[in-house]
Amino acid sequence: MANFFPRWTNLLPLKIVVCVIFVVLGLAAAFAYYATPKAQRVGYEPDQPIGYDHALHVDQLGIDCRYCHSSVDKSPSAGIPTANTCWNCHQHVQKGNPKLAPLRAAMGVDEDHVPIEGAEKKPLKWVRIHKSPDYVYFDHSAHVNRGVSCKSCHGDINKMRKVYHAKDLSMAFCLDCHRQPELHLRPLEEVYNLDYDAEEYLAKNEIKNEKGERVTTQKEFGELLKKNWSIHPKESCATCHR
Ligand code: HEC
Ligand code: HEC
Ligand code: HEC
Ligand code: HEC
Ligand code: HEC
Repeated sequence: MANFFPRWTNLLPLKIVVCVIFVVLGLAAAFAYYATPKAQRVGYEPDQPIGYDHALHVDQLGIDCRYCHSSVDKSPSAGIPTANTCWNCHQHVQKGNPKLAPLRAAMGVDEDHVPIEGAEKKPLKWVRIHKSPDYVYFDHSAHVNRGVSCKSCHGDINKMRKVYHAKDLSMAFCLDCHRQPELHLRPLEEVYNLDYDAEEYLAKNEIKNEKGERVTTQKEFGELLKKNWSIHPKESCATCHR
């Protein structure tokens, strides 16, 4: 009797198995890539326990970043304020606002700000947005005290009604600036002013380079600051991986 199946079909099961393996591996790799924070983190905008509004507090009320992120110029981490920091003002303003109920719970008081007897104070649990992998070493103070603004890494926080992840903060992002910091450096007193504009600043303040020529662009100004402060961001692996 003639062989009903041609010879090549002997290999068919093997081909199917190999094919399935490749598809599965491909899906796993794609999943690993897209599911890791790197691809997803830009735009990450979690709900917070209180709808705290940076645009209102920073731009409209003029509160400095360091009032709440008080270790940003002193240590590696910026720090997130506790309920007590909010309470400095909110024991007086916006009394009874339902949006501030979690703050009152954290302070153990009722709507009229009368302490609730035996109340268990529930600390505000802010959801962390920016987080480097554990194998990365980062230091805020090393940047903000050397003329690098929050804006370079976090975007226009002062315009955000709800904070989102604006930049990818990848290794390439860090290195781009370590190679060319002059494109970002600004005077120290402007680091917390997120509306700073280099050209406007240079139009108002007459700044000259060593040749006595007037400086007019970010790049020229950055180069001058880099030289005057002898700024040399490192690129060796051990700088950020220790
Ligand atoms: C009155 C207090 C207050 C001030 C002033 C303030 N912040 Fe915040 N900031 C917070 C609170 C509370 C959070 C956490 C909740 C949230 O993300 O909105 C936060 C979150 C952040 C985050 C995200 C933290 C994370 O989890 O990754 C960044 C970045 C940030 N602030 C930058 C700034 C900058 C830049 C300024 C100044 C221009 C500033 N903040 C001013 C209170 C403040
Ligand atoms: C330096 C004073 C000050 C501090 C500190 C402060 N606030 Fe406020 N906040 C205000 C003022 C003033 C208003 C009212 C603004 C208005 O009337 O438009 C306000 C308004 C608000 C509102 C109501 C806004 C709305 O949309 O209804 C919320 C919610 C709020 N703050 C949350 C917080 C939280 C959370 C913190 C701590 C992380 C905080 N605030 C720290 C001064 C402050
Ligand atoms: C050179 C880039 C860079 C600059 C400049 C920068 N940040 Fe950050 N920020 C980061 C990175 C990266 C993280 C995540 C760090 C981590 O996970 O250890 C972060 C995390 C944070 C956090 C949450 C975690 C923490 O450290 O408490 C806050 C709040 C914050 N930044 C506020 C600020 C403020 C305010 C400024 C300006 C005064 C600022 N940052 C300037 C890169 C930067
Ligand atoms: C916008 C510019 C800019 C970006 C973005 C930036 N850096 Fe830097 N970094 C600097 C400058 C400027 C210095 C200070 C160099 C000096 O003092 O000579 C510095 C210094 C450092 C240092 C040295 C601190 C020390 O103790 O000596 C570390 C670590 C570092 N950066 C890590 C990072 C990491 C990680 C990222 C990305 C998440 C990053 N940087 C993004 C500009 C930048
Ligand atoms: C200026 C800081 C900085 C320097 C210098 C640096 N890295 Fe990184 N590296 C990072 C950051 C930040 C990440 C995390 C990236 C992320 O979360 O997307 C990272 C991630 C990595 C990863 C994980 C894979 C990846 O791309 O996400 C490897 C591997 C790595 N770095 C190796 C190195 C080597 C090797 C060197 C030296 C040639 C080096 N790094 C120098 C900041 C730095």
